Formats: sequence, C-alpha cells, structure tokens
Amino acid sequence: PGTARVTPSGELAIGGVTAAALAERFGTPLFVYDEALIREQCRRFHRALQATGLDYQVSYASKAFLCRALARLMAEEGMGLDVVSGGELYTALSAGFNPAHIHLHGNNKLDTELRQALDAGVGCYVVDSLDEIARLNTLAGEAGTQARCLLRVTPGVEAHTHSFIQTGAEDSKFGLNLGNGQAAQGLRAMLDAPHLDVLGIHFHIGSQIFSTEGTLAALARVLEWLAQQRADYGFTAQVLNVGGGFGIRYTDADQPQPLEDALAEIAAALRAGTAEHDLPLPQLWLEPGRSVVGEAGWTLYRVGTVKAIAGVRNYVSVDGGMSDHIRTALYGAEYEVALANRMDEAAADSYTVVGKLCESGDVVARDKPLPHPQPGDLLAVSCTGAYHYAMSSRYNAMLRPAVVFVQDGQAREVVRRETLEDLVRGQE
Ligand code: LLP
Repeated sequence: PGTARVTPSGELAIGGVTAAALAERFGTPLFVYDEALIREQCRRFHRALQATGLDYQVSYASKAFLCRALARLMAEEGMGLDVVSGGELYTALSAGFNPAHIHLHGNNKLDTELRQALDAGVGCYVVDSLDEIARLNTLAGEAGTQARCLLRVTPGVEAHTHSFIQTGAEDSKFGLNLGNGQAAQGLRAMLDAPHLDVLGIHFHIGSQIFSTEGTLAALARVLEWLAQQRADYGFTAQVLNVGGGFGIRYTDADQPQPLEDALAEIAAALRAGTAEHDLPLPQLWLEPGRSVVGEAGWTLYRVGTVKAIAGVRNYVSVDGGMSDHIRTALYGAEYEVALANRMDEAAADSYTVVGKLCESGDVVARDKPLPHPQPGDLLAVSCTGAYHYAMSSRYNAMLRPAVVFVQDGQAREVVRRETLEDLVRGQE
C-alpha cells in the first residue's frame, strides 16, 4: 500500500528510501512509517465525512500508536486525539497538542488522570461508569470547571471480530448497558451533575470490523433509546460518537469495506434513524486508530539463523519478535512477509518466521512462501503500524526499536532506539 515500491534492483523502498538504506542508517528491528499514507488516511476520513454533509469530528485513537511526532502530524491533519491514560495524555500535551481537541477514555480513569485532564483543559470525557459520574463531577467542581462529556453506552451488539477485541456486547467491562436501565440511570445522574455538560452518547462495538452491519444495528438501538430519553428527560444528544473499528487488509483474506462506503452508510443510517424518531441530527464523531496508521507501518528485521527440520518445518529467526510483534502470539493474527532486499526472487519454500525471545510462541508469521533466506537478509512485515510499537514490551530485556517516518526520499527518526542504559534507568 501507499508509497511502497519494488526498485528495479529488487529492493523494497518505502517513501522513496530502500529498506537496506533504512536498516543501515537506523539499525533493526525498525518500525518504518510511510508518512504520506498516514496523512492520506486522515484526509480520506475528512473527505468522506465532508461528503456526508454532517457536522463531524474525527479523533485518532492514540492507543494504536502514539509518539510526539505523530501527535503533531494529527494536529496538522485536523484530527482530534482520543487518549485512554495519563501517559497518552502526557505524550500528547508534551507534543503541544491542543487539549481542547483531546478526549479522555477509560473504564477506570484514576483521580490522578482526571485531575491531570481537568488541569490541562481536556475537551471531552467519555464517561464509562456510574462511579465515574460523581467523581468527575466533584473533581471538575474542585477544578472550577465544567467537564464536557459523552456517556459511553453498551448497545448489546456483537461485532464480527476476534472475541478479545469485541467491546459492544452486554457482558463488557466498558460502558453502561442500554438493555438493563443502567445507561438511562447514568444519563440521568450526569444531567443532574452541576459540573458536567452532557454533549451526547458514545458507543464502540469492536475493532478490525469489515462491514457496517454491527455499527448500524447498534446505531438503531441507540437512536431508539435516545428517543426514549428525550421523552423521559427532555435530553437531546448534540453528539453521537460511534467509535472506531474500521478494518484493514493484513493479508488477502481481509476484505474490509472501503472507508468511504462505510462512512456513507453510517451517515445515511443516522439521517434515516433520527428522522424516524423525530430527533434532531447530532454531530457524528469518530475515533479510528488502526485504519489511520495500520497499513502505513512496516517492521524491518535482520535475518539471523535459518534452520530446516527435514519433513517438518523451516524456521527463520529475526532480531526482534514478540517484544515488538505480539499480535500473532496473542490473536493468531496473520501477516505478509517478504525479503526486502530480494523482492524480485521467487519463493523457494515455506518458512515460519520466529523471533529471538525465549518462548516457542514467539512467532511473527507461520508457513510463509519466501526465497531461501540467508543470514543478513532483511525481512519486512507489512501492516504493522497499529498496535505494534504501542504493544511492545521489554520481555527478555529487549530494547524497543526505533521508529522512523519516511517521505519523499527522506527519513527521520521520530523515536530513538532504546539503549542498555534505558533498561536499567530508575532501578536501584
Ligand atoms: N475507540 C474505542 C473506545 C476503542 O476501544 C478502540 C479500540 C478504538 C476507538 C480504536 O479502534 P480501531 O479503529 O483501532 O479499531 N490491541 C488490539 C486492538 C484493541 C482495540 C481496542 N480499542 C489489536 O491489536 O488488534
């Protein structure tokens, strides 16, 4: 995708820079982002949402990947930021991101996080529980401010995705259920709280979703519920936030609906549903993560050892692994891999790409066709822009890789590689 190309000499180049040049200059493992593609994804959201004629806001879900350079890029592209912790909030603020365009999420926001956000002037709180309502109201009062908020509801809809990342079903730690009266109870408490300004409602039914079916079902339930709340309390939602979740193509098996079509369908359903219930049209807010950065990111590894177990399997080991690539082990996720310095060579055999960590589950990709890998080759994994660096760990005292942004033949290191001193910093 994006600006990735194969050069005439058979090398992978991203943003006009070859993988070999990147590996030489910045080392491996390396996260490489195609900056133009991240920007293009932001612009696709804006164009598609503008085409709906609705008032809208699109906030990038920082959990997918956040660093200061990315926060600045999001500001340049007119995106808000959805943050879920004091750490994400701190990162965004330290990049100079406008706090008014930040939303704070979380099913267990700590008092310290709420105070940090109130002090900074965060623009919106997505209230997730009954307990949070009173706490946020008190803390906002102490801070001498009004907290603008959305109520997160759980519409009782299953998204067609991996069960670990479904969040909209009724048995969920997130939000208040529409079905059992808790959402109505929460809304009423929020409306009664003097330091809360209730802008509207939020739901998010899951991630890596390929069609709007689930979202439209959730939307229908939420609008019906909103009509009831209007009748009961005279509450009118100015904002409806339908979360993120737009799927991307990791391999050919993934066929997500084009973003433009999905957004047009959601907007049409919002218009039809509000008309049906005689509700004013709210603003449509979105908070996509994966679809903004996922396909723009690549991981480059150096091949170390190669082992053939005759009649069983071929293993090729790289210089990273589950410390920078956990999704295969955690979700059984599938990826495409290639030898970045030998893109023009035909596959010779099937190889399982493994990391260097002390665990058999440390697999990057299983049984992939490749030319015979040699120690020293560069191995590229595509579609690693979302939930990779963000989910990296220091297991086995691995150092977190560097992150580079490439564009128009230029590369810049936006996060430096960790050092051995970083590992022991803060230790007695
Ligand atoms: N909004 C809320 C409330 C969310 O919980 C999430 C993701 C998003 C937005 C962004 O969803 P996206 O557009 O990225 O699908 N670690 C998992 C994904 C966890 C997603 C958690 N919530 C993975 O690697 O697949």
